[in-house]
This record gives sequence, C-alpha cells and structure tokens, in this order.
Amino acid sequence: MIKNPTPRIIAFLTATILTCVVGLISIIFKSSFVEILLEVTLNFIVSFVLTLYALEFFIYRKIKLVYKSIHQLKTGKSDPVFPPLFGSTEDPIAGVTQDVLNWAKDQAVEIEQLRKNETFRKEFLGNVSHELKTPIFNVQGYINTLLDGALDDPEVNLHFLSKASKSADRLASLVEDLESISQLESGYLTMEMETFDVHDLIKDVFDSMEFIAHDKNISFGFKEGCDVPFIVEADKSRIRQVVVNLVSNSIKYGNKDGHTIVGLYDMDENTLVEITDNGIGVEPEHIPRLFERFYRVDRSRSRAEGGTGLGLAIVKHIIEAHNQTINVRSSIGVGTTFGFTLRKG
Ligand SMILES: Nc1ncnc2c1ncn2[C@@H]1O[C@H](COP(=O)(O)OP(=O)(O)O)[C@@H](O)[C@H]1O
Ligand SMILES: [Mg+2]
Repeated sequence: MIKNPTPRIIAFLTATILTCVVGLISIIFKSSFVEILLEVTLNFIVSFVLTLYALEFFIYRKIKLVYKSIHQLKTGKSDPVFPPLFGSTEDPIAGVTQDVLNWAKDQAVEIEQLRKNETFRKEFLGNVSHELKTPIFNVQGYINTLLDGALDDPEVNLHFLSKASKSADRLASLVEDLESISQLESGYLTMEMETFDVHDLIKDVFDSMEFIAHDKNISFGFKEGCDVPFIVEADKSRIRQVVVNLVSNSIKYGNKDGHTIVGLYDMDENTLVEITDNGIGVEPEHIPRLFERFYRVDRSRSRAEGGTGLGLAIVKHIIEAHNQTINVRSSIGVGTTFGFTLRKG
C-alpha cells in the first residue's frame, strides 16, 4: 500500500479500480471497442472528480475547520496557512498532523507543569499553616492561663507574658519572611541597583548583630587582605537581607566561642563573597535541599533559635534575581561556607 497518499492519489486509485471493473463488465457483455473506450474514459473522469470532490467537501473541509479552531486557540491568530487540496503535490494532511502532534506534546508539558505547581502549592500551604499553628497555640495557651488566674501569681505572670511575647515575635518574623518570599516569587519585583562597598555593608551588619553573637561569644572578622573596600553593583537593601540571613545562620548554627569570617575575592567581572563559620556543619545528604522553603536539618534546633526555615530560600531568590549564583560547602564538626557572587561596580 502507498504510505500517506494524497487525496489526488486516492481519487486516482479509486477511479482506476472502478474503471477496471466497468471495463471488465463491458468486455464480458461484448461491447464494441469504441463503446468500451467511451465507457472507460467517462467512468474514469467521473469517478476521479467525484472522489476528489467527496474528499474535499466531506473530510478535508471538516479537518480544516477543526485545525482552524485549534490554531486560533493556540496562536490567537485567525488565519492559519492551510495547504490547498487542489494543486498541491504534497500531502496536505501530513503538515497538519505534525502541527497537531506538536500541540499535543506542548499541552502535555504544560499539564505536567501545572500539576507540579499544584502539588507545590498544596505542600506550601500545608507547611505555612503548620508553621503558624505552633506560635498561635502558644500565645493562646499563655494568655488563657493568665486569664484563668495566673495573672495574679507574681511567680509566673511575667514569665508567661514574655513567653507569649516571644511567640508573637515568631509569628511576626514568619509573616515577614512569607511576605518576602511571595514578593520575590511574584516575578514583578525589580532590583534597585546601586553602586556600593559590600565590605562596608558587611561591617555594618556585623555591628548590628554583635549583641546576638555575644551570647555565644562568637567573634566576627574578615579574612586576611579582605578588610578593604569592594565596590559592587546590586540592590543594597536586598544584599543586606542576604548578609543578615547568612550571618544569623552562622550564629544560630555556630558553636560557643566560635567565629564567623568573611572573605571577599576579585573574580574578573564579579566579586565573590564567602561567609564561613566553624559551627556544627551540615551532612552532605542535606546540602542539596538547604535552599528549599521550610527545609531544616534539625527542626527543633532551628525553632529554638527562632528560625523560620525560609531564610535560605529568600537568600537564593535574591541572588538569582541579580543573575548571580550562590553555593555552599560544609563538613560536619568543621563548619560551613556560603559563597555568592555580585557584579563589580
Ligand atoms: N551556617 C550553617 N551551619 C549549619 N547549618 C546551617 C547553616 N545555615 C543553614 N543551615 C541549615 O539550613 C537550614 C535552613 O536554613 P534557613 O533557610 O536559614 O532556615 P532557618 O535558619 O530559619 O532554620 C537550617 O535549619 C539549618 O539546618
Ligand atoms: Mg536562617
């Protein structure tokens, strides 16, 4: 059989078969040669035209209509280039079939993406409500206990109030982080680029966080040769958010009497900023997931330290919005280094 016949070939074959049948009948009925020739010729022409006409009007046109509607839906344009049936030497349906197959493939990819987003959304919503539940229940619990009489007990009232206040603070930082994430993920956010000294910014962050580091007696410093200006071009307030998150992690997951050291390196077009601690470190199997929202190696430790599990997700978003990269190296018991790049100013 002929593969992918054009309507013309189909019409030709149908006409030939019919003509053979008619010719055979004419021979059987011993018609004269002229009669046979006339019959055969007439038959061929009529059946060829009729078949082509049938194909055009009853099949081809219907397909054309369906194709047109899909084309409009997919491209928003009204007139697809549809190969003509008459006068076309190629198979007009073949191109259409290919288009439809391509659309189907695109559609499958799109559906898969939507399905993934849906799972992602469900998971995220589940995580958010789970994270919000604990501090809300705590606040409720302490306030109810106070109302039920503990308010008059000078032994516990202040203690309960300060616990309630801590939980409220936790709620506030969770909501703040969620706001940052949703802003960053909306995609509409533009970075407000400016030229500044990143060394100066880090020094500033060190100063503002000294009192938090004080409890664990963690010291801050720059690597040798890095205590000098490094001019970069970036969104200063967002980079401050990055540095605050990374330095605060180095304290939270740092050991007593430890240190947090910053290195700054000149790399052609970029400046590499590395924040290193000599804290607890991260096991290799957790490293690829650290930047996921709500991912925490040790949930209870993170919570106890006031972590939301969103810090590194925010950090990654900010760095990627600058078209830069962030990476992490870590060994258990030795420490962790987070490194990110910024464009030189
Ligand atoms: N400097 C670090 N040393 C060891 N572990 C870290 C460090 N920074 C981050 N982590 C791990 O990565 C997790 C995610 O960090 P992050 O997104 O900032 O959330 P959070 O600090 O609120 O828990 C932390 O819970 C912790 O387990
Ligand atoms: Mg953190």
